[in-house]
Amino acid sequence: MLDQHSPMTGEPKARIDLTGVPETMLWPLWNRAAEARRQTNRLIDDPLSAGLVDRLEYDFRRSFGRPSVYHAVRARVCDDLIRDHLKRKQSEAVVVALGEGLETQLWRIGDKSVKWISVDVPEAVAVRQRLLPSSDSQTLVACSALDEDWMDAVPEGTAPLITAAGLLMYFEETDVRSLFSRIANRFPGAELFFDTIPPFFAKKTLKGFKVTKHYTAPRMPWGIRMADIPEFVRSIPGWEVVSVRSFGEPFPNRTPIYNWLTHMPGLRKWLPATLTVLRANQRETG
Ligand SMILES: C[S@@+](CC[C@H](N)C(=O)[O-])C[C@H]1O[C@@H](n2cnc3c(N)ncnc32)[C@H](O)[C@@H]1O
Repeated sequence: MLDQHSPMTGEPKARIDLTGVPETMLWPLWNRAAEARRQTNRLIDDPLSAGLVDRLEYDFRRSFGRPSVYHAVRARVCDDLIRDHLKRKQSEAVVVALGEGLETQLWRIGDKSVKWISVDVPEAVAVRQRLLPSSDSQTLVACSALDEDWMDAVPEGTAPLITAAGLLMYFEETDVRSLFSRIANRFPGAELFFDTIPPFFAKKTLKGFKVTKHYTAPRMPWGIRMADIPEFVRSIPGWEVVSVRSFGEPFPNRTPIYNWLTHMPGLRKWLPATLTVLRANQRETG
């Protein structure tokens, strides 16, 4: 039976009623919290995630099982990109986090000057607003990433860094294509970070992928082979590839088996889930 009080504060835990894709925000939260509690070789410092997991009336272990490192790898790679963006853009830095859920990246980055636009579906934004601290840097936009409302929140003439961590796999490929096209048209010079799953795994989710006995992941229709990403990107005007890496590559000492498998010539084409960065071309002037 789940303890109804936080082990840290003794206060009653907060109820959370999420289902379907919005419930998936709890999965990376669980894994980041576990990473934040590691004594050595931590990829991220994230006391806010750890505290939140303690405060919620939700049986994370029952749903998601033993924590894994992959969401922390994604979070850290994205943190590093954001830090680099902030250094380059200084006071003009704008980050748009699509499908942000309960990601606590804004507080890990800790830069008060950044303009941070957090986008998620209305029920998810309501949870974020209720459970995370407010911040003057943050604008919450309750809409689908596939709507254009969030684009209107980006200051005119800026080239934002747009992140879509754990999001695009829940879309159909046609939606991913049209999202990329609209971003390229609207924000020349923008950068886009996202992760992908391979097609064999996408197919598995369509049949009902059981993460544990008690939790079945929602459908993730969009899968793409690592080897096919450059061609996919070329087929959408306005984008160039900056980098495509397997999840095993950024921190191989933490993901040795996955890293080894994804470097096997026969497996590299189709096995890896990726961390990908694109840049929207600047428009020709004159
Ligand atoms: C796996 S979670 C990832 C959350 C967060 N990015 C992280 O890494 O912790 C997926 C998130 O995408 C959001 N989402 C699903 N469909 C969406 C849509 N059409 N537009 C915006 N967000 C969406 C969900 O509500 C959820 O917060």
